[in-house]
Amino acid sequence: MLSLIKHIHSFAKEVKLTSEEWHFAIQYLEESGKWCMPGRSEFMIFSDALGLSMLTVTQDYPKPAHATEATLVGPFLLENAPKFAMGSDISGGAAGTPMHAQGVIRDTEGQPVAHTVIDVWHSDDRGLYDVQDDLEKNGAWARAELTTDADGRYHFWSVLPVDYPIPQDGTAIRMLRATTNRTMRPAHLHFRLQAPGHRTLVTHIFDKNSEHLNSDAVFGVRPSLIADFVHHDAGIAPDGKKMDSEFYTLDYDFVMTR
Ligand SMILES: [Fe+2]
Repeated sequence: MLSLIKHIHSFAKEVKLTSEEWHFAIQYLEESGKWCMPGRSEFMIFSDALGLSMLTVTQDYPKPAHATEATLVGPFLLENAPKFAMGSDISGGAAGTPMHAQGVIRDTEGQPVAHTVIDVWHSDDRGLYDVQDDLEKNGAWARAELTTDADGRYHFWSVLPVDYPIPQDGTAIRMLRATTNRTMRPAHLHFRLQAPGHRTLVTHIFDKNSEHLNSDAVFGVRPSLIADFVHHDAGIAPDGKKMDSEFYTLDYDFVMTR
């Protein structure tokens, strides 16, 4: 608290903060609070867009060699996501091109991490999350909890995520429009991996074809987290399913730390 007070006083002196600006800031924060609810935290978006979330993750999450890099959690994680059997289609009716994702979760010694609980959540092809739609009416989509077997392997179907802007209806977007106007996020899947004896890993996998990899509004991209979402014409998918139209596949292995 002493450090915070020192720096906030220093900030006010540096910008010669006026009463009018101070009052605006208080009202802005009050309005931001009204945009906080399960599955949507406006203060999270402020933290993300100011780079504070990634700074905190980077200094708080030790990364041994070969371990998967952690990233910010973002504003759209829901606890108690719908549970699916491994291999299921988790899209829940979300619009988009079918995508099959698979990989193995290992520890830093290369051993599979058994019984990992995986939360995965992502946008549909409009760039929207289920929590930005009417969740009560339409239910969850492109969101799941999956659990690996002893082999640490995961695989599921969903739809291809796309680039999307920071939510347009809150207060954080006004800050971005008034400053950098950098409001886009490159297409990605969010993952949270939890396993006994291992540090919980929250991360993203980004689409290497996105135009916004170098301008992520919330600074989440790391080169090691960029993957190839491979396009296929109609044919046989990795799980043997016959696809009558185009689809994408993603192969990505995770490494958790003890
Ligand atoms: Fe996201």
